[in-house]
Amino acid sequence: SRYRIALVVGSLRRDSFNRKLAQALLRLAPPDFEFQRVEIGDLPLYNQDDDGHPAEPVKRLKREIGEAQGLLFVTPEYNRSVPGVLKNALDHGSRPYGQNAWAGKPAGIIGVSVGAIGTALAQQHLRNMLAYLDVPTMGQPEAFLHAKEGLFDADGGIGEGSRAFVQGWMDRYADWVRKHAG
Ligand code: FNR
Repeated sequence: SRYRIALVVGSLRRDSFNRKLAQALLRLAPPDFEFQRVEIGDLPLYNQDDDGHPAEPVKRLKREIGEAQGLLFVTPEYNRSVPGVLKNALDHGSRPYGQNAWAGKPAGIIGVSVGAIGTALAQQHLRNMLAYLDVPTMGQPEAFLHAKEGLFDADGGIGEGSRAFVQGWMDRYADWVRKHAG
């Protein structure tokens, strides 16, 4: 069987390192995995008043999460947490009460930052939210990537210095999804 993964990138920036990382990661995935990048940039700011009549992008988000067997979060760190756009998407997907679209979908978290300890604290905050949302999130290996020269090769893949590490992460992630997908 095939596994469809909803890919959530926590940056809206055109030249985002995290978007680049997501692209490079997909190339390392097993052939029975397919990824659908979930758009979060056009979601309105979450407002509980709208639970009864969600906007079109919100319905689309919930549908795409619902169709997925797994989740992949690739996110930068903003001010030692996740970007607001990612929190906003998590909130949208979790509501209305009792209709949490994220629940039970196995997830992996990875990210790249220009800062030295980059994304470790963002990932920790994300783990807290996903635990509450009943998402089984892979604990190990952790991956905190640094946006330094050579992280990506000329072809947009993971550079030689990090490739084996990132491939190992992806292999474990794929195992995690296979083990926990319903
Ligand atoms: C940052 N950045 C950052 N980096 C980090 O390692 N820890 C942090 O807490 C923050 N905080 C932060 C806040 C805000 C508002 C911005 C715009 C940036 C720097 C961040 O790592 C850098 O901008 C990355 O390039 C963002 O990821 P993308 O957009 O390239 O994927």
